[in-house]
Order: sequence, then C-alpha cells, then structure tokens
Amino acid sequence: MYSKQQTIILQAQTNEWLEADNSKKLDKNNIEELRNILRFHEHRYYVENDSLISDYEYDKLYKALENFEKQHTDFITKNSPTQRVGVGLIKDFPKTQHLVPMLSLENSYDELDLLDWDRKVKELSGLSEIEYSIEPKFDGASISLVYENDLLLRGVTRGDGEIGDDITPNIFQIKSIPLSAEFSKHNIHQIEIRGEILINKENFKKYNEGLIEEGVPPLANPRNAAAGSLRIKDPSIVRKRNLEGFLYHVSFISKIKENIQEETKTHSSLLKLLWDLGFRSPQKELKVVSGIQAVINEVNNFEKQRDSLPYEIDGMVIKVNSLDLQEKLGMTSHHPRWAIAFKFKARQASSKLMSVEFQVGRTGAVTPVAKIQPVSVGGVTVSSISIHNEEYIKEKNLKLGDSILIERSGDVIPQIVQSLTATRNGSEKEIIFPTECPVCKQPLSKSDDEAVWRCVNINCNAQILERIIHFASKDAMDIKNLGDAGIKKFFQKGLLIDIPSIYEFDFNALKEIEGLGEKSISNLKEAIQKSKHQPMHRLIYALGIRYVGETTAKTLAQHIENIFDLQKMNEEELMKLEDVGIKVAKSVQAFFQNKDNLNMLKKLEDLGVQIEGKKQEKSFGNLNGQTFLFTGTLSSIKRSDAEEMVESQGGIILGGVSSKLNYLVTGEDAGSKLEKARKIPSIKILSEEEFKKLLLN
Ligand code: IVH
Repeated sequence: MYSKQQTIILQAQTNEWLEADNSKKLDKNNIEELRNILRFHEHRYYVENDSLISDYEYDKLYKALENFEKQHTDFITKNSPTQRVGVGLIKDFPKTQHLVPMLSLENSYDELDLLDWDRKVKELSGLSEIEYSIEPKFDGASISLVYENDLLLRGVTRGDGEIGDDITPNIFQIKSIPLSAEFSKHNIHQIEIRGEILINKENFKKYNEGLIEEGVPPLANPRNAAAGSLRIKDPSIVRKRNLEGFLYHVSFISKIKENIQEETKTHSSLLKLLWDLGFRSPQKELKVVSGIQAVINEVNNFEKQRDSLPYEIDGMVIKVNSLDLQEKLGMTSHHPRWAIAFKFKARQASSKLMSVEFQVGRTGAVTPVAKIQPVSVGGVTVSSISIHNEEYIKEKNLKLGDSILIERSGDVIPQIVQSLTATRNGSEKEIIFPTECPVCKQPLSKSDDEAVWRCVNINCNAQILERIIHFASKDAMDIKNLGDAGIKKFFQKGLLIDIPSIYEFDFNALKEIEGLGEKSISNLKEAIQKSKHQPMHRLIYALGIRYVGETTAKTLAQHIENIFDLQKMNEEELMKLEDVGIKVAKSVQAFFQNKDNLNMLKKLEDLGVQIEGKKQEKSFGNLNGQTFLFTGTLSSIKRSDAEEMVESQGGIILGGVSSKLNYLVTGEDAGSKLEKARKIPSIKILSEEEFKKLLLN
C-alpha cells in the first residue's frame, strides 16, 4: 500500500507535526496532509500490525484534527478519520439487497473430499492440473461492503444471502476498513467486497474477562462476539470492541470506462489489489499452488499453526485462482463450484452433565460449576465447566443428566453451547440453587440489578481463601511457589489466615507439612520476599477490588504516588481517569472507605510491602525519562517482564520507531523496526546482553 519512499515522507511529516506543537498551524491547505498522516498510521497499526508511533502520539495528532474540524465544520470531509466516531444511537438497521447474492461454501473434511472436488473441477474445465489459492477460513461474521466513487457507501450483514441489514455506522468503527480507497485509479466506479468481521483472541479474552467481572456469563466463542457486536445500536460501544475486518472476495465491479483492458486475471491478484488499496485482505496468509496434492500438504501444515494465530479460524478456503475459470465453473444455487471450505477438527464435543458444585469466589459470588463426563475438545480434556448463574442455567435449559454440547475456542475457557434436549429420556433432574453459602452457611442474597447470588459475609472462609489466591496469583503479586493448591493446604492448617499473613509466614511450621523440603521452603521464602517490591499496579490489582482489572489498576497506579492516595480521591476525581466509569469509581471508594481494608493495607506496609508507586520510583530510576522499544524475540527474558523492568526504573515504552526513541532493544529475528532505527542516528541499538548491562548500571 505505502511504498518505502511514501513511508519515509509520511514519517518525516509525522515528526514535523509532532514536534511542531504550536508552530505548525492547521489550515485548510494542510488539513489533508494531517488526515493522510492519520490514515497512514491507522493502516500501519490495524492492517500491517506494525505501528510507527505510540498511541499517545497518534491521539495528539487526532485531537488536533478533531479540534480544527469542530471550529471549521465546513472543512469536514466524509472520509476524514474523525468521521468514524458515531453520530449517536442507531434507530434500526435498514434492510438492503446485496448487489450479488452472498452464497455459502461447500464443506470438505478430509483428503478424499478434496480429491473428489478437484476431480469435478478438472472434469468441468477440461484441464489436467488446476492452480488453486488457499487462504484461512476466518471464523467471524460475514459482511459485504460497497464502495462508490472511492468512498465507503455501506456495509451490510449476510442476512438471508439476498437481503441483509445495513450496519454502516458500525462498520465505520472498524479501523482496518478504509473509509475511502483509490478504486478510480483502477477504472472502478463501484465495487462490492465480501469479508469477515472478527474479534481477535486477545480482545475476546479481555472482553469475556470484563463480562465475568460484571457477573455476566461470557460468550462461547469470538464468532458470537463479533456477530453480536455488529448489531449493537451504539457505535461508540462497537468501537470499544476492537473489531477487525478481513476482505477476501470481490463479488461485483462496475467500471468507469467499459472498453479498458483489465489486467486482473486471478483471485490472488485481486487480493493483492485490495491489499495495495489499504484493505486487510489475506495477502500475507495466501498461498498459490498447482494441483490438489500441494493443497492437501498446505492445509495440513496450516492446521498446525492454528493455535498460534492471533485470531480464530475454522478451516481453509480453497479457490480456483483463475477468474476466467471461476466464471466457466459457475455456481449452484447454494455455493460456487470454484471454491470449497476445508474444515479443521471441531472444537466442539458432546458430553454429559453429571453434577453441579457451587463455588464461592473472592467477592462472595456463588458460581455453579458443572462436573461433566471428561471429554477431549481440540486436544484438551475438559471435566468441569462454569455455568455462571441461575439465569444462565434457565436460558440454556440445563438439567442434571443432560447431554450437552461444549466448545473451546482458542485460549478461552470452555463453554456450554447448548443442552441437547432432544436426547432427554425423562430421568433428567432440575438443578437446585442453594439458599445458603455452601461454606459458611449464611443465607445468600441477590441484588435486583445482578444475576449472581452472593455470600455477603466478608469473613466467609471461602472468600478469604480466594482473596489470598488472587493476591498471590501470576498477574497479581506473582508469588512463585505459592500456588492455589499450596494456599488451600496452608489455609486449612491455619498457616495462612488472611493476605498479610503471607508476609508473617511461619516457615518452621512448614517443615512438618509433608513433601516440603529445605529447598522448597527457601524458594518460597525468596518468592514471598521478592513480591514485596512488585510495582504499584500489581498491588492494586492484587487487592481484588471489584471491577478493577489489570488495565484499570495500571491507570490508577499512574496517577498516585502512594496506595493511600486512593483513599483521598473522590468519585469525581477517579472518573476523570481514562476508562474509569461510575461503577469502578464507586467500587474503589467503597474499598478505601472500609476500615478492615485500610488496616490490611497498613499491615502490609508495616510488613515491608512497597506501597509507593511509579511516580516516585521514576525520579529515582536509572532510566528516568529514557524511551525504549523492543523488537524480535528475546531469549532470556519475556518481553512483558523486560518492559516492566524499564518502567520500574523510570523508562518509557514507545509504540514505534521515531526520532523520540532512545533505545531499540533487538532480539532474534528483529525485522523492519531495526531497519528503520538504523536510519535514525540518535537511536542506540542494543542487543539483549547490552540491555541487561544497562539495567544493572
Ligand atoms: S469465499 C462466493 N473466503 O465462510 C464465495 N469465505 O462457510 C464467498 N468465510 O459465507 C466466500 N473465510 O462468510 C470465503 N477466506 C474466505 C472465508 C470465507 C470465511 C466465510 C464466508 C462464507 C462462509 C462459508
């Protein structure tokens, strides 16, 4: 899309705008330059996945444009990057006819199916060997986009294949979909493009974690999350879902001049054209091969990489590469004859719901957990599965003894898709929700605005235990050698009674406990000691304040110097922070107004746990204000740990290579970032070893 030369020019212009602050004034003559810069960085970030500037720098440029357009509304253009922002709530999604019906694909499941299909294609075409293109079968929600006169005109869901819903305002929220593209340069007046809207695995996981945090059952798979997101009537919520769009098929083109010779002869060159125009087509994932045997080898290879992809795929799509041959082969009423889907092994399996246990979490929420007949789903054996809450049980119509269908998508915890009610024989039993806490026996309560039943006794042993487990866990204080099982055992024996007791541990008593030798004890001692110096955001997260996940904990930590500063902040001040809404603010306030919590924090401070944050650390750090970026694979440390080390010494992590960068730390297979950094003399390029030395200085 952007040539090397364009990239260099745009990056130089970016730096000019960033450095200009107040000297470079926006006016109607240079506004398009700034828009192009923003489009370029959106493309780098959302399509190429290789951003050149930090989010902060992007936001600064975006805000400059937004402010200018607010003051000069007559300069606003339809394809300005600011126009993605929603125009308010959507009333309804108008029904719209597709230019060409959206057909489905024929499915294949093994080599024999593919050989059969290849035989038919050869017979119909009269050729002895066919050139095929192979690309991922994206597992999301399918859409069609229409561009006219270079502008995105509409985005429509599949619907019944003939007529779908016009969801254009929501499509505008997907930053990898260009609002305009230079089709006219290719003699194209109107074009209809098909693709798939996805939510990547990481964002899906985060989204589900958020739902769980709010007591809402998570979604079973990213496909449902993507499809559901597209139907939300508030585009600003859709934007927050971070959807992505892959475009893989051109279904209709109307030309500006009819008699111009078209050079596009293959599917792969059409995908390349889309890529060159700024679309995220499967250009990098695409393979073109001759003959079905090569296809079989390729799909088998690809299946092995399935788990390492950032998004979910459920197979591969094999397409006849020649567009002339595609036309000759034509379609049935259901699917094109020139394409076939090769489906990977299902990540669904059926099992039986044997019993339900009720577990009490750290906030007192009582979660029913189904014990199921162990079954392997996508290579992992599943024997228990959360069934979330009473409403969920009703909604899924679950009964003891039911046959159930379960699904495990990517890294996500398995979910029940449905109960197979047709196979019931009458012996199935209702799942009865308890009325009292299964651990402390106090009555459970439920507020009107929540679906979960809670044990409100904050001294309930189950809650205390879960709070200790959360505190020590990997993403919180990361106390290695103090895992869930150990904590449970120590809690039962009275060696751990609450969070502070971790730092008053009676190591002598430990020797009496079976299986713990000198070495394990000294490791545990060391791990506990080390955790006292965890950065502030980990401590905040570790406290288990409701609605305060890792990201919110980081935001809070950035604005305080001492954990007790949170006690002084009122709701209004808290809500001024990024992504802190009323719910989080209220919850933080409630936590810091509770005497028991404050006593616990004081106790932790007395026991030597660092309660002072980054602001202070920064001014003492070796790397104060120095900027860093990592590229390639580090061999001896995890990238996230390395970044944390930099930040803990006052350094700043940047999102991309620019003149603002002081150090680029290079691991194995460092790529384009290293090339770029070499062109900027002020950037110091460090090997992993050199980086470690710098840290120790
Ligand atoms: S081609 C006329 N290519 O899978 C043929 N479809 O199960 C248009 N899908 O309806 C479809 N990835 O929504 C094509 N690389 C890909 C795809 C893909 C996912 C979806 C598409 C289709 C469904 C069929």
